[in-house]
Amino acid sequence: MDTDVARNRVAWEQASQKHVREYDELLAQAARRESLTGNERRLLEPVLRERPVVVHLQSGHGMDDVDLVSAGAGRVVAVDYSVTAASAAQRRARELGVPAYYVAAEVPGVPLKPGVADLVYTGKGALIWMRDIDAWARDVATLLKPGGQLFVYEAHPAVPLWVWDEQEVGVRPDRSYFADSHINETFPANGAQEWQWTLGQIVTALVAAGLEIRVLEEYPEPFWKPVGQEAAAWEGRLPNSFALLAEKVRS
Ligand SMILES: C[S@@+](CC[C@H](N)C(=O)[O-])C[C@H]1O[C@@H](n2cnc3c(N)ncnc32)[C@H](O)[C@@H]1O
Repeated sequence: MDTDVARNRVAWEQASQKHVREYDELLAQAARRESLTGNERRLLEPVLRERPVVVHLQSGHGMDDVDLVSAGAGRVVAVDYSVTAASAAQRRARELGVPAYYVAAEVPGVPLKPGVADLVYTGKGALIWMRDIDAWARDVATLLKPGGQLFVYEAHPAVPLWVWDEQEVGVRPDRSYFADSHINETFPANGAQEWQWTLGQIVTALVAAGLEIRVLEEYPEPFWKPVGQEAAAWEGRLPNSFALLAEKVRS
């Protein structure tokens, strides 16, 4: 494993202890089924109506898995390289009677059968941990059945540039939209390295892997705000998140 990826994995293993410490709160939160956003529900509704088998890449605390099943998914197979995160999510799914099954493994290189997924779901802080976006896109294409769909809901790639100032919108002088990576100063900390992929790189990687883009929407709202933090950058003038729906071409 690449040394930066290995260091990030250690950081995530430690950060995921949060899912164990806050197990009861997360269980109560999962039971409320409020994890999927309105945009996610709107875009996923036609796919979920077909009771798809979902593969959730980088599933984290697994709250979305509970929502995906209650919104229609037949079952979810979720993959995350943090054993701590996967175990806590598995325990929660079992307690809630949700058909979600967790595999502790690295992405890309997911050890599932090719063509197992009607829908690959990912995002909310996932793509920034991918060292190789082309290898990620090939994994997605391999996991999907012909005609299967990929859904991504993610931080907009421009987000690392925004200054977190309550009064003024601004661009950080130490960041570039076209940089390869930067060091994460907040969660999950420990100097974790986040990779930056432009929208163009993400779309191009998916097209090269054999997917057709069906939807690409950009939103002013961030998918996540640190508790107590406000920023003028989140008030409607700048892109802060995006959703993408793509289909594996039937050959
Ligand atoms: C910010 S969380 C987002 C996960 C999920 N969408 C959520 O809302 O909880 C990122 C997750 O990606 C996982 N992760 C990061 N890099 C990974 C990799 N290369 N392979 C597998 N999992 C990875 C981490 O362990 C973490 O649980």
